[in-house]
Amino acid sequence: MRLIDEISEEEAKKELAEIAAAMARADIAYYQNDAPFLSDAEYDSLKQRNLELETKFPHLVRADSPSRKVGAPLQSGFGKIAHRFPMLSLGDVFSMDEVADFIKGVKRFLNTDSDIDFMCEPKIDGLSFTARYEKGVFVQGATRGDGTTGEDITANLGTISGLPKKIVGEVPEILEIRGEVYMSKADFLELNQRNEEAGKKLFANPRNAAAGSLRQLDADVTRQRNLSIFAYTWGEVSERVWSSQEDFFKHLQKWGFPINPNNRLCHSIAEIDVFFDNLMQIRSKLPYDIDGVVYKVNDIDLQERLGFLTRTPRWAIAHKFPAEQAVTKINDIRIQVGRTGALTPVADLEPVNVGGVLVSHATLHNEDEIKRKDIRIGDSVIIQRAGDVIPQVVKVVLDKRPPDSQEFEFPVICPQCGAHAVREEDEAVRRCTGGLTCPAQAIERLKHFVSRDAMDIDGLGEKIIEDFYSEKIISSPVDIFTLEERNFGSEDDLFSRNQGLQLEKREGWGKKSVENLFSAINKSRHISLSRFIYALGIRQVGAATARLIAQNFISWNEFVKEMKAQNTEKLLAIDGIGPAMVKDIVEFFQEQHNIAIIEGLVKMISIQDFAERVDNTSQLSGKTLVFTGTLMTMTRAEAKAKALSKGAKVAGSVSANTDYVVVGADAGSKAAKAAELGIAILNEDDFVGML
Ligand code: IVH
Repeated sequence: MRLIDEISEEEAKKELAEIAAAMARADIAYYQNDAPFLSDAEYDSLKQRNLELETKFPHLVRADSPSRKVGAPLQSGFGKIAHRFPMLSLGDVFSMDEVADFIKGVKRFLNTDSDIDFMCEPKIDGLSFTARYEKGVFVQGATRGDGTTGEDITANLGTISGLPKKIVGEVPEILEIRGEVYMSKADFLELNQRNEEAGKKLFANPRNAAAGSLRQLDADVTRQRNLSIFAYTWGEVSERVWSSQEDFFKHLQKWGFPINPNNRLCHSIAEIDVFFDNLMQIRSKLPYDIDGVVYKVNDIDLQERLGFLTRTPRWAIAHKFPAEQAVTKINDIRIQVGRTGALTPVADLEPVNVGGVLVSHATLHNEDEIKRKDIRIGDSVIIQRAGDVIPQVVKVVLDKRPPDSQEFEFPVICPQCGAHAVREEDEAVRRCTGGLTCPAQAIERLKHFVSRDAMDIDGLGEKIIEDFYSEKIISSPVDIFTLEERNFGSEDDLFSRNQGLQLEKREGWGKKSVENLFSAINKSRHISLSRFIYALGIRQVGAATARLIAQNFISWNEFVKEMKAQNTEKLLAIDGIGPAMVKDIVEFFQEQHNIAIIEGLVKMISIQDFAERVDNTSQLSGKTLVFTGTLMTMTRAEAKAKALSKGAKVAGSVSANTDYVVVGADAGSKAAKAAELGIAILNEDDFVGML
């Protein structure tokens, strides 16, 4: 940051714009999404800096300056969309008997004795959406809302890669496709892990995470969360070219919509029964949450004859799974220390069967959660398991609380290393301050370092890392690369013959496994820049972020030089990297023990410069692009990848260095800024043309 006395008017103008944008995003994150990414201190220092700049250059005060805002945040900024066909819900049943009654009712209504085919579909536990296509082009997306009116989420839905933006082939002129937006269990866990490490709000389940991610005023946030869809029904269509639900699915598939692979046509109640049981068996293994089965009369003519009750169709019903909950006792509360020092409380439970799975631990998330739910050792609790998600405590059964129970005292000292565990004012997480002197953190960081997406060293499994660490064979990543040389003894010292580690003599090891380990280690000595950055285990820097950094800095030396000098400008300009992340990255490089490890490592390995096969004959080669708004024929990620492959750079904000701004639908201030700075504006067609 430039000293206020030295700053030029031009620089001040640029910085004021950046501050206004950053604070606007921070406000939305804080007030509307309950997911702040700036600490109070960071927020206040931005405000202070803004004030200083404005005092020096009063004529540069912006219309949208944070100093002119009077606190009150924006209200839900989504436009409303009236559904041309209401988005209905389904009646619920909970037993096979009720399903039989439903089928009887259908037959009675149709006055028939013949068997009726039903399409049986997993009931996805997400949020329903509707997507409107005109002449095959995605033009509008909405949530269900109250069924009559929903919210306009066109931009957000447009970021979901599974949703076709343009349908190729023959398609009705007007076509409204409906389905469910969901987040996979894996993406949910990863998001929560990231949030936990950043001290941000945790989502209770994948459904909440999907809802929170979809209803973001800033569609860029939605883009960064991995959301998926399944399509299963329709709204307005100019011409219905299908005759059954089965036929409809065939069309969906042809048009490129994801449909659930477990949808099955059943011809009798016996088949339905088997379908339901099978699905319940595989439920926990599915990569997403489902909460039951939907049965739909397959024949659309019959559906039309059956029609609707007030809010639900007569031709379909939802058969819900029983809730996966159970009551058990908390035997103990343990504290786990993670890679970044986060202290996570875990309940040791009296093992109990929940929906077919034996559960003996539940996460308690953090200290506030324990307080809020008043969870104590010895309590009986209701626990809940949703799919593969770590079981959670729903609530305490107070009637069963032992009379002498005591509140849990959350440690303020790391149970692993004794260092202070501190909690920043605005964080939910308490962290051990021991850094790499804390064995738990050191071990978790080693595990991360060798993991598949990082250095990918096969043969150094979790147990081995733990053993080697406790035997002081490997204390830091550097030791991994001296392992081979330390394994073999030397005889040149006549007095004390060094026997070496002799790993091949360890129990369960042999010559071959040791050779394999060394060859895996040696293979990892040639490592790509993005993997290496990811392997360092910097807080908040996942594989995708590491790749962005590599793409922008190209070489390790360049990156390290800038980070040591705390030059954050280049990092901040990267689309997808925010100020909180930058802070963590810079802090990492100010820690002496991290520098020592890095310096040790670079002597042992060779880090490849970032190289992507680029086409430097393209008009876009060497140019800096900024994207804004929603593109119709491709997702933002695709557009970015294509631009990068043509040798272009992609920045997150418009500046004097920008060559082109690619403007999609609903573009915001970036387009205006480009016009103001006289930067060339491309529409989607121009961009595709240049590609
Ligand atoms: S059909 C008129 N099919 O369940 C029928 N809904 O409880 C419209 N859902 O609002 C819905 N999976 O959000 C249908 N395969 C599926 C579904 C499904 C999940 C959700 C949907 C709906 C709710 C009704």
